[in-house]
Amino acid sequence: MKFESIAMTPLNSTTLVVLLIASATLLSCRGQLSDKPPVQPQQNMFFQERFNAQQENPFFEDGMAMRAPVEGTVARGNLQADTEFYRGVDENGNFIDENPVTVTRELLERGRDRYDIYCSVCHGGTGDGQGIIMTGQYGYVPAPTFHQERTRDMTEGELYSAIADGIRTMPSYSHQLKPEDRWAVVAYIRALQESQFVPEDVMREYDVDLALLVEEYEREQERLAALEEAREAAAPDDDISAERGEELFTSQTCQACHSIDGTDMVGPSLLGVYGSERELDDGSTVTADEDYLYESLTEPGASVTAGYQNVMQPYTHLSEAELQSLIEFIKTLADND
Ligand code: HEC
Ligand code: HEC
Repeated sequence: MKFESIAMTPLNSTTLVVLLIASATLLSCRGQLSDKPPVQPQQNMFFQERFNAQQENPFFEDGMAMRAPVEGTVARGNLQADTEFYRGVDENGNFIDENPVTVTRELLERGRDRYDIYCSVCHGGTGDGQGIIMTGQYGYVPAPTFHQERTRDMTEGELYSAIADGIRTMPSYSHQLKPEDRWAVVAYIRALQESQFVPEDVMREYDVDLALLVEEYEREQERLAALEEAREAAAPDDDISAERGEELFTSQTCQACHSIDGTDMVGPSLLGVYGSERELDDGSTVTADEDYLYESLTEPGASVTAGYQNVMQPYTHLSEAELQSLIEFIKTLADND
């Protein structure tokens, strides 16, 4: 047969060389990276007209290419009728007191896991507000500690809402955490709070030497204070100026909560504060002199301006010269007319 005779022909040297070159060419691309788009012999629908996010589309009356869900409709699987679970509020819109999810060891472990990933960078591993990016050099609004009365008094619905909706200058974490996980984190925050606020009589039930603990704590505080003093002595900081204060006003994120043009934000505008009569939330009034401004920075909870929440964190990590510079800057914002 003709076929057989071809198949049986032994490879001559020319065929061999051609085969070798062909296979070398074909295999040579393997394992090599290229930033060019791959060759697509069949293009199908790879290239077609489309809209970018936020682009205009004259086809619709409102001119927007991005479409909102049709009013009054709910996508399948998105009916969130259980407001307690999904929003942390009861049917009247009031925050619920307690976690609607049964708190188990598993839930707490899940909460710790999610908290450590999404919250600890700012609020700190123990919830003390001393997270790793809170050193003041990155320009983040200081995160509050969870171990203060105001936060301990928050209902669990409020804690949930802080995650789901954000709170004041903190954005929402709803995209990172689904509802179950939000409740797990709420349970974990409560556990953190319990761990840092054990009443003395409960402590006494355990075999711990309270006096020794207090002593250790005080020794640690002294050590830190001495360290701080040594640092100041090594690099004396006596540059006090309104210009420096203006820079600090931005780098220390004061502008996230205070305007300097009269606009009301999370905190009162600082325009015209210096020298004015301030009404406090306990009904008293005080003149905003330098001492008042100093106290506003280092102990904001001591006198809270009427109409505002006591949410400003103390700026005690700033040096004396930095605090004085901020005060000099605020003084330049006094209303002169
Ligand atoms: C990028 C930093 C950052 C991260 C990450 C962050 N927070 Fe916050 N959080 C803040 C700041 C800043 C505030 C204070 C906002 C204000 O007062 O304007 C705050 C406020 C809060 C409050 C209100 C506390 C109070 O006393 O008023 C709660 C509750 C809270 N955060 C929970 C969380 C949880 C839970 C997570 C993780 C899912 C989280 N935060 C992640 C920065 C952060
Ligand atoms: C998370 C928001 C927030 C940040 C950040 C913040 N503040 Fe405040 N601050 C407030 C709120 C709210 C008040 C009013 C309640 C109070 O008196 O504690 C306030 C009060 C004050 C007052 C007293 C104002 C008055 O009406 O008498 C001064 C001064 C002030 N802040 C300065 C600063 C400076 C300077 C910075 C930056 C180093 C800063 N704040 C950062 C929220 C903030």
